[in-house]
Amino acid sequence: MLTDMNEAVQDVAAEIQAEGGECAAAIGSVSNRQDCERAVQAAIEQWGQLDILVNNAGVLRDRTLEKQSDADWDTVLDVHLTGARNMTLAAWPSMSARKYGRIINTTSASGLYGNFGQTNYAAAKMGLVGFTKSCALEGVRHGVNAHCIAPIAHTAMTDKLWDDSAKAGTDPALVSPVVAYLASSECRENCMILAAGGGYVARVAVIEALGARVEHGQSLNAEWVRENFARISDMRNADAPPSVIQALKKAFRAESTGEI
Ligand SMILES: NC(=O)c1ccc[n+]([C@@H]2O[C@H](COP(=O)([O-])OP(=O)(O)OC[C@H]3O[C@@H](n4cnc5c(N)ncnc54)[C@H](O)[C@@H]3O)[C@@H](O)[C@H]2O)c1
Repeated sequence: MLTDMNEAVQDVAAEIQAEGGECAAAIGSVSNRQDCERAVQAAIEQWGQLDILVNNAGVLRDRTLEKQSDADWDTVLDVHLTGARNMTLAAWPSMSARKYGRIINTTSASGLYGNFGQTNYAAAKMGLVGFTKSCALEGVRHGVNAHCIAPIAHTAMTDKLWDDSAKAGTDPALVSPVVAYLASSECRENCMILAAGGGYVARVAVIEALGARVEHGQSLNAEWVRENFARISDMRNADAPPSVIQALKKAFRAESTGEI
């Protein structure tokens, strides 16, 4: 089932059918809860179940922070972040009832690393990382795994932004197999963030340094931060805590018994 607010989605569904695939199209906006419910219901009616959700809808309203209107901010957040939340919410009851589901959210290097002129888009895309991580934790008991993909592909979105050299070699077909694997029953991983594009695939993680800790009796003041900044920011032994609980355990490790 393809869902898109652009009616051309019907042509894409027809193309897939012509190639021998099974596909239907639902026209609607992911920003609209009812449209999302309708699309999920239509998929369940047609195939009896819903196993996979790929949240991929996207728009750009690129402007620097000062020039960005409230509408530019709201539109981007509504489509990328609220849209993924709406579709996930619509799909969740069916997946959790069957104790099986795969959710792939589309993030971006802009969110992971920041990009000039994209405060709205970067906020939405990094928001999706937190959303995905929390869905993955909540989904464990329901058999629902959630992942993020950070693609790089020559598409309608990037066509006007990129020069020919960037377009060459970034066929979206070099991204979709990565999504297909994450969405498959063979993939037992949970909460992966994978960058993919141009034949490159790599795991991305939010990592935290080993850090520094005040000694007993020492006060943590701005001078202490300055003096210990090299240790605080030394990423050599950084790790990626799998949840906030593990992150807190690490932060309090020196003082506590290991339990919080
Ligand atoms: N192309 C890249 O290099 C790249 C890089 C990073 C992230 N992304 C992300 O990948 C996803 C797909 O982008 P793309 O490059 O294929 O761009 P695209 O413009 O070709 O596709 C985006 C699709 O989303 C649809 N859409 C927009 N608003 C919608 C809404 N409210 N409801 C339903 N559908 C809506 C559009 O009609 C369009 O078909 C996006 O989330 C984008 O942010 C793309």
